Amino acid sequence: MDQELYKIVENSDITEEDREWCCEAINKIHADFNRSSDTHLIKLDLPCFKNSSLYLKDESTHPTGSLKHRLARSLFLYCICNGQINKNTTIVEASSGSTAISEAYFARLIGLPFVAVIPKKTASEKVAKIEFYGGECKKVEPKNIYSEAEKLAKKLNGHYMDQFTFAERATDWRGNNNIAASLFSQMDEERSPIPDWVVLSAGTGGTSATIGRYIRFCPELFQKTKLCVVDPENSVFYDYYKSGNKKITSTKSSRIEGIGRPRVEPSFRIEVIDRMMRIPDGASIATIWWLEKLLGRKCGGSTGTNVYGALKIMAELGDDKPSSVVTLICDSGERYLNSYYNPQWIKKEKLDVDFYLKQLEGFEKTGQLG
Ligand SMILES: Cc1ncc(COP(=O)(O)O)c(C=O)c1O
Repeated sequence: MDQELYKIVENSDITEEDREWCCEAINKIHADFNRSSDTHLIKLDLPCFKNSSLYLKDESTHPTGSLKHRLARSLFLYCICNGQINKNTTIVEASSGSTAISEAYFARLIGLPFVAVIPKKTASEKVAKIEFYGGECKKVEPKNIYSEAEKLAKKLNGHYMDQFTFAERATDWRGNNNIAASLFSQMDEERSPIPDWVVLSAGTGGTSATIGRYIRFCPELFQKTKLCVVDPENSVFYDYYKSGNKKITSTKSSRIEGIGRPRVEPSFRIEVIDRMMRIPDGASIATIWWLEKLLGRKCGGSTGTNVYGALKIMAELGDDKPSSVVTLICDSGERYLNSYYNPQWIKKEKLDVDFYLKQLEGFEKTGQLG
């Protein structure tokens, strides 16, 4: 036999020490998950609806306070398993704040330094949280978060997590305790267990891609459940969905922190979305004020966008036959006391909140919205 036929290439430069560090890091993340419990699915009491129900998956109760806790865990596992993170890596991320808080938590858990590149107007409460978990913040113009994060990662010889590109693929959308598997199983004992609609908003688009794919993955869901994505003002997601033009950009940034983007993010997958709605920012803020009366606590702005869209769909469905609509509480309103809950901020932004508050009070009595 010609020995030349047998050829071997070994490129692996991973040392025993690196291997050990990766195993330990993965174990720490698994153990942290094992100590965690699932988030609640809240049924909202709407007395004018006898047959139809609205459910809120409360993602604000994760240890780092938002739905981004799930994404941060997935991104860390993805990057460690890809060999992109090792014991000497500085983690860098572009974020409007929520993802950075969760990533700072996981970086600290596995003992790595973390730098968040955030828009300069990010709520001070979020900056304090990133720093609480040992992260560093670099404030830049909103449009520059991506390029500055990439540049900084190169300079520090670190790793740019790039949630806007990798959110949709880092999450195991087929199950494995993702948000979709969790919320649909929590509906099992309800009167209308297969939701008519799931309504949510997009930042990276990772959550909508995960839920949209999961609906298609489960035939009993796909026969009935539709996915609606709600978009705030100054975001291009809605325009992209309508026109198919991926190059569309906006010069203004979204007032609703965490959602709405000035460019079409790679993780935003329109193929799995059945409908989009643009929600006025005044309506999003009015909805979180109105919701506080029903829930007894404050929610963040994106929850207002989600719930307003969900109420619109409930009004359309009517109450003649049983139906269910599910949406998300993304984070707590305590992070936004200086903006959405501050009358001076509302005035400065020239938002008409009263108009939508009256509309919501009308909805409470009649089930009609606008
Ligand atoms: C508060 C908040 N709500 C909603 C979202 C949207 O989630 P996704 O990035 O999965 O689209 C984000 C994303 O950053 C967020 O921070």
